Amino acid sequence: MTAQPTVPLDPAPDLRATPGPPRHLAIIMDGNGRWAKERGLPRIRGHQAGAHAVRMVTEACCELGIEYLTVYAFSTENWKRPAEEVMALFGLLEHFIAAELPTLMENNVQLQAIGRLRELPINAQCALEDAIRKTSTNTGLTLVLALNYSGRAELEDAIREVCQDVAAGRLLPEVFTQEHLRNHLYTRAWPDPDLLIRTSGEMRLSNFLLWQLSYTELYVTPKLWPDFGKADLLEAIQEFHRRQRRYGGI
Ligand code: FPP
Repeated sequence: MTAQPTVPLDPAPDLRATPGPPRHLAIIMDGNGRWAKERGLPRIRGHQAGAHAVRMVTEACCELGIEYLTVYAFSTENWKRPAEEVMALFGLLEHFIAAELPTLMENNVQLQAIGRLRELPINAQCALEDAIRKTSTNTGLTLVLALNYSGRAELEDAIREVCQDVAAGRLLPEVFTQEHLRNHLYTRAWPDPDLLIRTSGEMRLSNFLLWQLSYTELYVTPKLWPDFGKADLLEAIQEFHRRQRRYGGI
C-alpha cells in the first residue's frame, strides 16, 4: 500500500550500550475470545475491549519513547473464523481508525500497515489508506497494524519479488544475499523488534514476523489481551532489561 524505501541492514548492535526502552516492540494480542467467554459475552465484545487495550498500550509506548509498535491484528489464518466475527473485526478496525485518528495526530503517531492489504474489505482499505496518508509526516511512534499478515506469506511475497529481479536481469543469483531478501520484506524500513510480547500464555509465534524475530527477546504473560495495560507493559520492559542479548556471541 505504501512504498517503503530500501535501506541497508542495521549495523551490529552496540552490546555495551545501556539498555533504554526497546526501540521496536511487537505484540501478539491473544485472549480476546477467552476474556469475553469468562464474562458470558459475545466474542466481539472481547475484540472491542482488545481495541481499547491497543489504544492504552499505544499511549504508553508514546510516553516511554518506544519508536515502533507492531501489533498482530488479523492473520491470514483468521479468515477461517465465522464470517460474522471476521466482518465484525473489520468493522471494529474501521471504527478504531476513525475514532483514534485525532489522538494519533495529537500524539504525533505515524500509522502503517503490513500484510496482503489489497485482500482486505474495501472499506477497511480506504480507512487505512486515509489514516496512513494523514499521519505520514508524524515523527513520533510508528504504529504498525499487521492485517491479513503471516510471516510465511511475507516471505513468499519477498521471494517472488527477488525472483522477478533475477528474471529481469537486475540481480545475479551469485551476488544474492540475505540483505536483498530483507529489502523486499514489508518491514524493510524499520529495525527488527527487540521485544515480542504474547498475551494469554500460549508459547508460539503463530506465523508472526518469522524473519524479523530471529534475535528478539520473547515475553509471554498469562494476562488476556483486554486486561493488558501500562503496568504490564512496564513489567515486560523491566524483564527485557534483565535479559542479556548476545546475538550469538558470548
Ligand atoms: C486474538 O484473540 C485476537 C485477534 C485475532 C484479533 C485482535 C484484534 C484486536 C485486539 C482488536 C482490534 C484491533 C485493532 C487494531 C482495532 P482471540 O480471538 O484468538 O482470543 P482467544 O484465543 O481467547 O479466542
